[in-house]
Amino acid sequence: MSILKKTKLTLSSIKKRKNGEKITMITAYDALFAKLFDPYIDIILVGDSLSMSFGGDDDTLGISLDEMIYHTKAVCKGASNSIIIFDMPFGTYIDGATALKNAQKVYQNTKAHAVKIEGGEDKAHIIKHLTSNGIAVMAHVGLLPQSVRFEGGYKVKGKSEEEEKQLLRDIKAVEEAGAFCVVIEGVKSEVATKMSQSVNIPTIGIGAGNKTDGQVLVWSDAFGFFEDFIPKFAKRYMEGGKLIQNALKEYVDEVKTGEFPSEEHCY
Ligand code: KIV
Repeated sequence: MSILKKTKLTLSSIKKRKNGEKITMITAYDALFAKLFDPYIDIILVGDSLSMSFGGDDDTLGISLDEMIYHTKAVCKGASNSIIIFDMPFGTYIDGATALKNAQKVYQNTKAHAVKIEGGEDKAHIIKHLTSNGIAVMAHVGLLPQSVRFEGGYKVKGKSEEEEKQLLRDIKAVEEAGAFCVVIEGVKSEVATKMSQSVNIPTIGIGAGNKTDGQVLVWSDAFGFFEDFIPKFAKRYMEGGKLIQNALKEYVDEVKTGEFPSEEHCY
């Protein structure tokens, strides 16, 4: 099967993929990587994970709306066929009016197709306010990285009957509020499967088993560039960090020995 994407995707083409061809999503934070990913991937998420993998923070809470806008502008310049999602940072959607003001700023300053919001039943009124004012929303339920300090760590969800019931209420609530798609993060596989089956919008999993309608990974996890810790769900498709260091060592060595630049690299 050819995985080269030839046509420009739209939110409605993504919505039609419920129970169909799997949706692929990856993060990117700049034009360089967005351009590399664009021909092959359906959705590029400018995730607030950039504050960890790009900015060196311990969690995602420190990134600002303007910093996210800067990176999203760059991603939009690199990717012309993928759907681009703007991850609303911590504190930018505390109520409907604040969320709308900030999301409008995102639409006015970037070419992102939609914004992503963490939260379920408790954030449904905010999603409703955005969607009824012309902002497309990808929801994010289950383990919520922006709640890491509040919860005292990254805790996998769906381990008790009570949690399962809440997760099912969460996903239903974000669907009813008008989200076009939903990320399910860090949820026991059987529960994530039930969640996915309970809604008509596509679900995209990360640490949520393989029965969701698609998958998302943070690029630096997937390609071996983020080495502080490796989450269980993150398959490494290459050892990028090691490859870069080996190439760098070769360059340093050649400069020191005078092998570089050789005739072919001189004017
Ligand atoms: O910020 C991010 O990269 C995310 C993914 C983990 C889904 O929200």
